[in-house]
Amino acid sequence: MGLSVGIYGGSGYVGVELVRLLGGHPEVGSLAVASRGHAGRRIGEVYPQVAAEGEYLDPAEVDASGLDVAFVAYGHGESAEAVRGLLEAGVRLVVDLSADFRLPDARVYREWYGEHPAPELLGEAHYGLPEVFGAPGGKLVANPGCYPTAAILALAPVIRRMGGGVRSVTINALSGVSGAGAKPSPRTHFVSVNESVSPYGVTGGEPRHRHTPEIEIMLRRLGEAPPVTFVPHLLPISRGELETIVVEAEELPGPEEVLGWYREDYAGWCFVEAREEVPHISHVANTNRARLSAAVDRRAGKLLLFAAVDNLLKGAAGEAVQNMNLALGYPEDLGLEHLR
Ligand SMILES: NC(=O)c1ccc[n+]([C@@H]2O[C@H](COP(=O)([O-])OP(=O)(O)OC[C@H]3O[C@@H](n4cnc5c(N)ncnc54)[C@H](OP(=O)(O)O)[C@@H]3O)[C@@H](O)[C@H]2O)c1
Repeated sequence: MGLSVGIYGGSGYVGVELVRLLGGHPEVGSLAVASRGHAGRRIGEVYPQVAAEGEYLDPAEVDASGLDVAFVAYGHGESAEAVRGLLEAGVRLVVDLSADFRLPDARVYREWYGEHPAPELLGEAHYGLPEVFGAPGGKLVANPGCYPTAAILALAPVIRRMGGGVRSVTINALSGVSGAGAKPSPRTHFVSVNESVSPYGVTGGEPRHRHTPEIEIMLRRLGEAPPVTFVPHLLPISRGELETIVVEAEELPGPEEVLGWYREDYAGWCFVEAREEVPHISHVANTNRARLSAAVDRRAGKLLLFAAVDNLLKGAAGEAVQNMNLALGYPEDLGLEHLR
């Protein structure tokens, strides 16, 4: 029979990656793909590069009570109510790709995103970065943001061991344009992006990207961590992210020691890999891999951490399928073997 799976928001960049991955997943028996904007159109017509049969359904046409698993790939603020409806309909597992359930506190959510539409569910969400926080339990998974995935994977082993000794963390992040989603905007227009690189998320003279509290809150679950300075930059490429993280600390470990921490903490997990050479975006693009590396600038007294992921896979859809696999007791790479 296989699992009955629904995708909501199936016409976005993340949604269509989910269509691709779940369409080939060996445990998925039936796949309902919903779109508010494209209901009635063939998926292969909206995305000619995707060999998916079938057409987008209106979300109201999907019988949620018959779903085992639902993935919601709406924007933040839109997901929460859809998630509430799916849980009320009895869906066994809901994986939300938006930011709606990543911050555990409605007060913090309000400060960065506005009023939370379903605060009563915040306590039920498991933050789905399995290599750091384990396999999801419960019915609701908050899939991490793309930048936080890379940042927390790189920083978690350091915070666990150096905790209170870390004086500052500065994350310089670079992303391809698909990180901004399919809705066009003047900032992501080809002419704005091509042959240029620009910082963003710095308004009124203050860095204020919404992934900042997510990174800080999750690191503080692991040990003492200072506030994080996070500055993203837009690259003229389609997909992939690279972060260079500068850590100031009382005592500096050697780069080999940090690589040893990575290997120890991520032993047994197949998608996180530590290497001596620095990662490039091209080493991870179109894969579900996270590549980590480290260097030490003894002259300036700083530890440098490097992390690269594909924002649409390890930073979104690939990680979401990994979470489904783990939550249901399958191997983490089931249906993702080709993305290792
Ligand atoms: N992009 C990334 O790298 C990334 C990484 C991690 C997490 N996320 C999160 O995942 C969620 C989905 O992200 P996304 O990048 O897939 O966003 P997106 O491409 O903007 O899609 C979001 C929703 O907007 C609708 N949509 C699609 N194309 C549109 C268009 N041209 N104009 C207007 N609406 C359109 C779709 O809904 P319908 O199908 O219902 O019409 C889609 O589900 C967001 O909450 C995002 O923050 C994104």
